[in-house]
Amino acid sequence: MTTAAWGWSDRLVSKFEPMDETHQEFVSLCAALALADDESFLQSLDALIVHTEQHFEQENLWMREHSFPPLGCHQKEHDAVLELMQEVRRSVAAGDTELGARLAEELPHWFEHHVDSMDNMLARFMLNLSDEVAPSLTQSA
Ligand SMILES: [Fe+2]
Ligand SMILES: [Fe+2]
Repeated sequence: MTTAAWGWSDRLVSKFEPMDETHQEFVSLCAALALADDESFLQSLDALIVHTEQHFEQENLWMREHSFPPLGCHQKEHDAVLELMQEVRRSVAAGDTELGARLAEELPHWFEHHVDSMDNMLARFMLNLSDEVAPSLTQSA
């Protein structure tokens, strides 16, 4: 798989709509990063970092609000990836464009694994919560 050919696909669908919308944006921004040239790379990376901060904070908030059991592990992975992106940003700004290209190449692999191992579990948990809330809404209507 080359990063440039990477895009949204059924394997990334979690069925939890707010998460899927955010993940589609992440995939688009990663694809834009892979296509960026030296001139536009930092701008694309900044856009991806801004998105990722909000993306991860939303998931962290869902986990905290609903006492999701694997919160610590999931949040730790978010923190590590965000820190890596920021480190690479500093290196690219200092002239290490090769490291930027490696990040663009590796992020899709990381993301697919993260969705499979962590986000899908959170999505199922959130969908179960809405199933539990739905009957009480029906009764009070
Ligand atoms: Fe996510
Ligand atoms: Fe996540």
